Amino acid sequence: MSKTALIIGITGQDGSYLAQHLLKKNYIVHGIKRRTSLFNTSRIDKFYKDRHEQSTRLLLHYGDLTDSTNLIRIIKETEPDEIYNLAAMSHVHVSFEMPEYTGQTDALGTLRVLEAVRILGLTKKTRIYQASTSELFGKIQQSPQNEKTPFYPRSPYAAAKLYAYWVTVNYREAYNMFSCNGILFNHESPLRGETFVTRKISRAVAKIVLGLQDVLYLGNLNAKRDWGHAEDYVESMHLILQHTIPDDFVIATGISHSVRDFLRLAFLEVGITLEFYGEGIREAGRIANINIDLLEQKVPNFSRELQVGKRVISVLDEYFRPTEVDELLGDASKARKVLGWKPRYSFEDIVSEMVLSDLALFQKAKLLQDSGHEVLFESIV
Ligand code: NAP
Ligand code: GDD
Repeated sequence: MSKTALIIGITGQDGSYLAQHLLKKNYIVHGIKRRTSLFNTSRIDKFYKDRHEQSTRLLLHYGDLTDSTNLIRIIKETEPDEIYNLAAMSHVHVSFEMPEYTGQTDALGTLRVLEAVRILGLTKKTRIYQASTSELFGKIQQSPQNEKTPFYPRSPYAAAKLYAYWVTVNYREAYNMFSCNGILFNHESPLRGETFVTRKISRAVAKIVLGLQDVLYLGNLNAKRDWGHAEDYVESMHLILQHTIPDDFVIATGISHSVRDFLRLAFLEVGITLEFYGEGIREAGRIANINIDLLEQKVPNFSRELQVGKRVISVLDEYFRPTEVDELLGDASKARKVLGWKPRYSFEDIVSEMVLSDLALFQKAKLLQDSGHEVLFESIV
């Protein structure tokens, strides 16, 4: 018998990787996607078959975490063995601009999912994974951070996720539900949303070397994150729900790097060495050296405007947050010991994969442009 999973937020980075992982494990996968005026399924299109085909094991439903009635109906119809609540307004900086909506979705949305399962009498059948986050540690109280580290959220996003974390624990204790938190540190991939810093950098490297962008504008280059790969991290979500008891787990690599490290390595991938000058919001980065052989090998049609001394990075005030999470470093030894989980991708693998993927994407688009087509490079994802 196949198990049935419901992924809320299936159109996101993690939703896409998790759906593929569960389909490989022979699950029937239901996904909730939002109604949007344009297609929003680009991350799942490559493995989504039309629902009218008999063999399809991936089914999509319109829904929204802010709509209880709709959640109750979908959960009633699908009766899932496992629910993965990955849906969220997931951008920390944007949460300062949309704090109420962030609370509605990320905090109360989680409550709506838990309540739907309870109201429908599915508490014994349905296991629930809640996408908790290392942002909970915020202004860190100890390093590295593990399951016992006190939380100190630093944004409306993190405060909403704090509510979601505790209500998940509370429903476990109050109603014996199998509801678990995965406290995941940052995880990236070529499918990462384009306004998160890693993807913003990988896209910019590709566009700058192809002559499609002049300068990359960023905020705090000194922030440090424990960056892993989404493909590794979705495996931990599944393992958390297969464990014998419901529990909460930190998922991280145990290695931290700065935004500046990511930048340097991303440009090095195409043979460009950066040097930084200036300070604070006046800091900038320019090309210190070009390894022409490597650049030519990776980008045969590179822009001839690239030269030593060219400014390619500028720090801008507007990309700083009102309150910042300066550094995160996770200790996932509990997940390793109890679940047997460990990451396969290194930091270097992630940077390389993301830059090469964006290079391929923009090279294709540039070829189209060169052959006379109109191409809107900004909207390419
Ligand atoms: P993502 O790419 O931003 O995906 C978020 C998903 O949630 C998308 O499918 C989005 O739909 C959906 N969504 C947003 N608001 C919704 C609403 N009101 N109702 C229903 N669906 C809604 O995020 P991700 O990187 O995959 O992360 C997955 C989850 O893990 C999020 O909850 C995030 O906060 C959490 N998390 C992420 C990381 C990380 O580093 N990636 C680390 C820790 C925790 P659209 O496609 O229509 O926008
Ligand atoms: N987005 C962005 N854009 N971040 C920048 C920029 C910029 O131009 N310049 C510097 N940064 C810094 C941010 O200030 C932050 O310290 C760091 O880069 C990482 O920012 P993001 O990539 O936006 O990720 P995040 O750490 O804030 O949040 C992500 O990880 C969390 C887990 O810790 C998101 O995926 C959250 O949903 C997730 O919970």
